[in-house]
Amino acid sequence: MRLKDQVAIVTGGSRGIGRGIVKAYAAEGAKVAFIYKGNQAAADSLVAEVTQAGGIAKAHQCDVANHDDALKVVEAVEAEWGPVNILVNNAGVIRDGLFVGMRPEEWNVVIQTNLGGTFNFCHAVAMKLARQRKGRIINISSVAAEHTNPGQTNYAASKGAINSFTRALAVELAGRSVTVNAIAPGFIETDMSENVRNKAGDLIKKMIPLKRLGQPDDIAKAAVFLASADAAYITGQVLTVDGGLSLGAVAV
Ligand SMILES: NC(=O)c1ccc[n+]([C@@H]2O[C@H](COP(=O)([O-])OP(=O)(O)OC[C@H]3O[C@@H](n4cnc5c(N)ncnc54)[C@H](OP(=O)(O)O)[C@@H]3O)[C@@H](O)[C@H]2O)c1
Repeated sequence: MRLKDQVAIVTGGSRGIGRGIVKAYAAEGAKVAFIYKGNQAAADSLVAEVTQAGGIAKAHQCDVANHDDALKVVEAVEAEWGPVNILVNNAGVIRDGLFVGMRPEEWNVVIQTNLGGTFNFCHAVAMKLARQRKGRIINISSVAAEHTNPGQTNYAASKGAINSFTRALAVELAGRSVTVNAIAPGFIETDMSENVRNKAGDLIKKMIPLKRLGQPDDIAKAAVFLASADAAYITGQVLTVDGGLSLGAVAV
């Protein structure tokens, strides 16, 4: 077990990629506190699934965009399980639409959830990890930070900023043996990508050299690696996990 007795927080853990990360971390022996915003049924079913598999997971409801709520969740996790060792900032939303028609609310919610949520949870744990002189922060970015499509100015801006933030925070925390990395997924089969998959699923598959869409488990495996002792000498990196999509080649 690569994460035995570690205490992990995974934001946006109830569905999609985050759900895959929660299950993988629990299977590797971590106690996993995960954050969800509104879908309690999904959160409850994940706790039941992890428990049945012999793991430990607990759901915490909070909006990652709220700084005070982030502090409260981290305090609650530490009061129950002790110091947090691993933070995965995964909660994210899209509000796609061409820029000229984008409403300020659509810009703000994407920036405040994706980038603001990452800031809030990093802010809540960074000093604690620095004092422990160990820890892992993993931010879930996107290939859209570098290879974007029309209609995603807000989303691409949030993910590009997450990549820059990851490198900048890595430099600040490296002296305390705390690593900060990002994972940039390609097209992963989750609720978030459903609309795009319905419209252009076959075309997307042709753009992926490995000829399949990604699954949450593909990202979870990378997240386990980056949280593990094996990744102790890796920091400030953005690991792309996209089946080769961002290589820009046409699949043969
Ligand atoms: N799917 C892809 O193809 C893809 C590709 C690249 C990057 N990503 C990134 O991967 C991450 C996960 O995406 P996904 O596809 O798994 O999304 P998803 O299926 O839509 O799940 C999103 C999760 O985030 C939670 N969440 C959303 N807003 C929140 C908030 N304000 N506070 C707390 N929790 C919140 C949701 O909880 P509730 O259900 O309770 O709202 C849910 O657990 C995101 O950062 C996304 O940008 C996804």
